Amino acid sequence: MCGIVGYVGDKSAVDILIDGLSHLEYRGYDSSGVALMTKNEINIFKAPGKLLNLIQTLRNEPKEKIDSNMGIGHIRWATHGLPTMVNAHPHCCNCGGLTLVHNGIIENYKEIKETLIQKGCEFKSQTDTEVAAHLIATEYGKCHDLKEAVSNATKQLRGAWAFCVMHKNEPFNIVATRKNAPLIVGVGDGENFLASDIPAIIKYTKKAIYLNDDQIVKVTKDKITIYNPDGTLANNKIEYLPFEPMALSKMGYKHFMLKEIHEQPDVVRNILQDKLKNEIDKIVLDDIKLNCEQLKNINRIQIIACGTSLHAGLVGKYVIEELTGIPVDVEPSSEYIYRTTIADEKTLVIGISQSGETADTITAIKQVREKGSHVVIITNRKESLLARLSDSLLHVNAGIEVSVAATKSYIAQLLSLYLFAIYTAETLNINSDKVREIKHELMTLPAKLEGVLANTSKIKEIAKKYSSYKNFIFIARGINYPTALEGALKLKEISYINATGYPAGELKHGPIAMLDETMPVLAVLNRGRVYDKVMSNCEEAYARQAKLIGVANYIDEKHQNLFDDYVLIPDISDMVSPALNIVILQLLAYHIAEYLGKDVDQPRNLAKSVTVE
Ligand code: F6R
Repeated sequence: MCGIVGYVGDKSAVDILIDGLSHLEYRGYDSSGVALMTKNEINIFKAPGKLLNLIQTLRNEPKEKIDSNMGIGHIRWATHGLPTMVNAHPHCCNCGGLTLVHNGIIENYKEIKETLIQKGCEFKSQTDTEVAAHLIATEYGKCHDLKEAVSNATKQLRGAWAFCVMHKNEPFNIVATRKNAPLIVGVGDGENFLASDIPAIIKYTKKAIYLNDDQIVKVTKDKITIYNPDGTLANNKIEYLPFEPMALSKMGYKHFMLKEIHEQPDVVRNILQDKLKNEIDKIVLDDIKLNCEQLKNINRIQIIACGTSLHAGLVGKYVIEELTGIPVDVEPSSEYIYRTTIADEKTLVIGISQSGETADTITAIKQVREKGSHVVIITNRKESLLARLSDSLLHVNAGIEVSVAATKSYIAQLLSLYLFAIYTAETLNINSDKVREIKHELMTLPAKLEGVLANTSKIKEIAKKYSSYKNFIFIARGINYPTALEGALKLKEISYINATGYPAGELKHGPIAMLDETMPVLAVLNRGRVYDKVMSNCEEAYARQAKLIGVANYIDEKHQNLFDDYVLIPDISDMVSPALNIVILQLLAYHIAEYLGKDVDQPRNLAKSVTVE
């Protein structure tokens, strides 16, 4: 998490840095700050809280203090130290000659800090980052070259970082480096940029260079020089950036989240148009590098992901097992890393990540690569670090997702998993009837999604009615169990209401003790394999006087009285229903949070890219 930017050129650095940071706010919003190089002086401005506070601070500063053509900026998601002014970046050494911004975690910061204190360094903050500022300054004292100093200092660090560093003795260049955290160099004309992510610079340039781990870059307004870890010159290629600035507009919606929910029919339509043209022809997934022989050799699949992507993976398990018969395990990346895992060249590993930056998933995928497993990455960011670690890639192509709560990327991940399952079954030449049925259902999905989104009044009414409840239980079974988990997660993260998802059959094994009239139970029911079973679980909840909300494609007359409220969705097969049901739960969470006046797009304590383990 955290976002960093850098600018060197002829324009006003502060304007470009602030604009860049405004497009990185999804990475954190605990504090922000900029450091500006002005006539061999470095001026630092910081503010706790959202970027708006920094903008206000800068408005009160005299022009000569912010008049600068070179600077670095930071937006923070707090890991070490409270989200206060003193912990806000940029941090500097004691003399103020060197300043830097950092994204990542320095794991051995305590040891280094002790040594630096013995050498006379005085620390002001509780951050791990300040250690890097003192350490690089100490190294600079020995070699008087910022690039050398950064190189020598980072060799002593453990952890993850992207740094942008300035020294007042080198007023025409920024030095930057990265390891296990993102950083791109934006290539301009008479100006150059650094940023954690594309949205920060896309307005100014469409050309960028991606840095490898431990490479160091020296950026002046006319020149970009990249060094390999051994000091030799590197020759990274310039790539063309994929985003249009339009994607960053709310297009009239009150929040990005609502806009992104409403984009879902088009997201699905685009994916299908691209890859699934009809029910008869075999689908083609160009970037899946697995042929029939290789797929026959696979005896298990492991899906690794976090949060919402993990929930998509859970749906994927049902679909892949149903269509291919290959056993699938799904596990949070953070759990996968620190235990003995059984994976080999007969294991296919699927990593799912919207951002392609999630540290836990990156670490897990790096581990399985060493075991010889074929790695498929499903991501919305085809230029991301995770994508670069893949043997096969499924770009979900949902377009940039700004709201911290994932919505359209979830549905796009589901679609990618359906397509992968179909691809595998078709390549293995098995289950053709099931494949045809699922293809047919997928092709009806965009219109059904549009139907649901065109009529949201009932959902808004339910949201208002239930917004004062403090706890919720979401239940479902089978392939919609992950829908219950995801619906509960959406509600928790944007409204801060305690919501838990359970397999409906588990209710009676403990959670039922919590049920009374203060605990609404939301049940997802889809006419199919487990419909009657979930309905029985609803009866059990009703008998305990819980308020019951149904999300269903069918409720027969004799059961309607069980429900205090229900939303009916278009008829859809069990297998594809998670992609439709989730939209109701996203909207419910959205309208509850909106009704409660919460910060929907930037909920407290969260960040869109979780780049720390
Ligand atoms: C919830 C949400 C998170 C992410 C999780 C993994 O709305 O967005 O739970 O799903 O942090 O992120 P990615 O998919 O980028 O690896």
